[in-house]
This record gives sequence, C-alpha cells and structure tokens, in this order.
Amino acid sequence: MRLSELLRTGGYHSYAYSYPHKTAYRTLPVPVPLRELWATENRQSLFLYLHVPFCEQRCGFCNLFTQVAPKSDLVSRYLDALERQASVMHSVLHPYRVARLAVGGGTPSYLSAPQLARLFAIAKKLCPDPIPTSIEVSPATIDEDKLAICQQHQVTRISMGVQSLFPNETSGVQRRQDPASVERALRMLKTAAPIRNVDLIYGLPGQTEQTLRESIDRVVAWGANELYLYPLYVRPLTILSRHRSHDDFRMLLYRSARQHVRTLGFRQVSMRMFTKASPDAEGSKLPVYRCQEDGMVGIGPGARSYTTSLHYATSFAVAQSAIRDRIAAWMSQSDEDFSLARHGFLLSSAERQRRYLILSLLEGTLDRAAFRQRFNRDVLSAVPELAEAIAEGLVTALPDRLCLTERGLECADVLGHFLQSQEVMAARAAWEAA
Ligand SMILES: C[S@@+](CC[C@H](N)C(=O)[O-])C[C@H]1O[C@@H](n2cnc3c(N)ncnc32)[C@H](O)[C@@H]1O
Ligand code: SF4
Repeated sequence: MRLSELLRTGGYHSYAYSYPHKTAYRTLPVPVPLRELWATENRQSLFLYLHVPFCEQRCGFCNLFTQVAPKSDLVSRYLDALERQASVMHSVLHPYRVARLAVGGGTPSYLSAPQLARLFAIAKKLCPDPIPTSIEVSPATIDEDKLAICQQHQVTRISMGVQSLFPNETSGVQRRQDPASVERALRMLKTAAPIRNVDLIYGLPGQTEQTLRESIDRVVAWGANELYLYPLYVRPLTILSRHRSHDDFRMLLYRSARQHVRTLGFRQVSMRMFTKASPDAEGSKLPVYRCQEDGMVGIGPGARSYTTSLHYATSFAVAQSAIRDRIAAWMSQSDEDFSLARHGFLLSSAERQRRYLILSLLEGTLDRAAFRQRFNRDVLSAVPELAEAIAEGLVTALPDRLCLTERGLECADVLGHFLQSQEVMAARAAWEAA
C-alpha cells in the first residue's frame, strides 16, 4: 500500500518498535547452535532481557505473550527453567559483558518478593556489576517489599502501566483497576528509582482531551519523570477485537497531550516517549548499548534474541491456551535444547539495512555516513521507499543525516509499517490470517 493511503486511513496500523516483527519469525530449516551463532558477534555491550510471562489479569487490548494468574508453584518451576537457560547462555556467550538489563513482561511484579529476589539473583550471574536496569510493574501487584528488592538490586528505571486514572476508561478496555490501588502504587513509586516511567493510553472509549491531560498531570504530580503515551491498538485475537470499534480520535488526543507534556518540561524522544529524566547510562563506565548494532540476549519463552544475522525466539501466541502450552513446552526443554535456536528470522543484507534505517528513524535521526560505512551504500538507494516518506513530509533528507519531521514523529508507527520489506509484510499477514 502507498504511504499516502496508509496515512489517509488513520495512520494507526501496528506498533513499530523492532524490526522484523516476531510474527514474521518461522521455524528455521535446521536448528542453529547458539555457540556458533554468537561466536562471531561483538559480545561486549549486550542487552539482557529477562521475560516474566505472567499477569494478574488479561487486559482487553493486550496481545503480549503472558499467562493469566498462574499458581505459585508454576512460577517457581518457571524460574528453575529460567535459571537453567541463563546458565546455558552464560557458557554460550563467555566471555561477554552486559550493558543493560530489562526485566519485562507480562508483569514481573506478579512474582512474590522471594521470587523477585531469585530473579535478580539469576540476572546477577550474567551481569554482576551495576548497570542500567529497568523493570515493568503494575499498580495492583507492586508493594513495598518488592520495591525494596528492586532498590537492593540498583534498579534504575521502574515502568508502571497505568493507562488512565479514570476507572470508566480502563474498564472500557477491560482492564480492572481500582483508583485507590493506583494511587497507592504511584505514591510508592515517587522515590523508588531515578527513572520513574508511567504508561498511559490515548484513544480509550470515553476519554477526552481533558481527562487525558488530567491523567498526565496526576501521574507527573506523583513523581513520574518519564511518560510513554501509547495509542490504543486493537490487535487481532485480543479481547477487544471481538467488540465493535469506536470513533477514532487518537491523533487529536495525541497532539493535545504532546503539547501539554512539553509545557510540563518533558522532552520528546520518540513518538511515544517523553522524558525529564537524565539518560539511563549517564555516569556509567560501561559501553552504551545501541539497538541498531548491539546484540540482545532474551531469556524466557516470550523473549527475543538478536544477532546480526538471526533474530530468534519461541513461536509467538496470543490465545491463553496456546501461551500455556508454549510455556509448559519451554520449561520441559533440556539444556541442549536451550543451546539451539529453532524459530526465527534470518536477516539478509537488505533486511539488515532496513532494520538499521527503521530503528534509527524511530529514534529521530539516521547518520548517513555511519550507514554508508556500515553497508557501503547510501541509505536512499538502499531503501527506495524513503523517497515517498520524504515527499509526504515525514522525513527530511540532509546531506549528513535523515531526520523525522514533527509529522514523521507523530506518524512513526505508520512509517515503520510502510518501510517493512515485502517479505516481512507477507509473513506477518500470513501469521494474522492463520
Ligand atoms: C508489559 S505492559 C506494562 C506493565 C504491566 N503489565 C501493566 O500492564 O501494568 C506494556 C504496556 O504496553 C501498552 N500496551 C500494550 N498493548 C497495547 C495496546 N494494544 N494498545 C495500547 N497500549 C498497549 C500498555 O500501556 C502497557 O502498560
Ligand atoms: S497490559 Fe500488562 S497487565 Fe494487562 S495483560 Fe498486558 S502485560 Fe498483562
């Protein structure tokens, strides 16, 4: 589809935050031994991602890989398997250095305090030194004991999903959330970490510019110094996808919220991210992790891992029964299984170039000389679709760099969608149709 057409049809097709999307991954023709795969990679500035695929509820909009309300003994067995996979990866990667750690979900704060302490102890084996560390939490599951454990492990960023402070707006997307527990959680967050992020969603049924601003004001008053503003996406197979859609006023809400957040002193970093905090790695002696170039090591069945030539993960699922099966199958894997990649996406040189472009533009800028040095060609000839993005006013081409315009920033998801290769688009469409 032409970019002009995608923009005309609303501009909200899917999130663009990585490339290629995991629904483009397939079973690999032959399993790939991870030791060989990682041997040729630079392993001095890795991103370690630990996945906790559990939540207290399934929100209507959410298609993340997460199981609802598992029993505590399942979670303990999950941590046993996570520890085994982490120790296999330690030996696969050695010698290596982790520059950043993220504990994501699902909802990592679903774990009990002792389970959370165990999770950090597992992480410590792979990254013994203090590094920028982020964790996702939900208001209903976080408490003082769990926050104290995060602080003991020098967590530098806590990210809380709040979505909205108006109960009618969250219940409209089938997220049960009691305002008193949100307030209690936000109060605790105030001094919990240097970076205190809150996720909010715009485009919720019943939401207005006024209520969105009020949600923003209140979380900022409670000490949030980073905000992620997510447009509501109704993705296939989610609970909301079975319901009638409502009027689309996301762009209007976004522009109003963006303006408001800027007047509160926040700097816009990407389409979604606004911050007042200083960068995570500031003052750290560790090399800075660059998503375009450095590897990602994912631990857990929902986690992706990125090397230069192969992205891999367990196959993706959204339905609860399929997620339960995937987690159970993953837990029963042997150490040898953990040392092989079976499902993923092999990146050709052309796909690597696209990935570099998309990830750079989603952060606002691409350095043309760096691109040329890496791929031996100019980015405009590598990705011809860029001409249309420039003509539509989403990207400005300067002699030394490409920059997202203000319009490009607000339409970054549609741009990321448009810049995908035909192969990736076809694979994603086939996954969604299956
Ligand atoms: C892993 S959750 C955050 C932590 C925790 N699980 C929670 O919900 O409180 C990731 C975030 O992605 C956003 N998100 C996920 N799916 C979305 C969708 N379809 N539309 C809008 N935002 C979405 C939500 O803002 C959510 O807080
Ligand atoms: S939004 Fe958060 S709490 Fe809700 S289902 Fe998704 S990961 Fe779980």
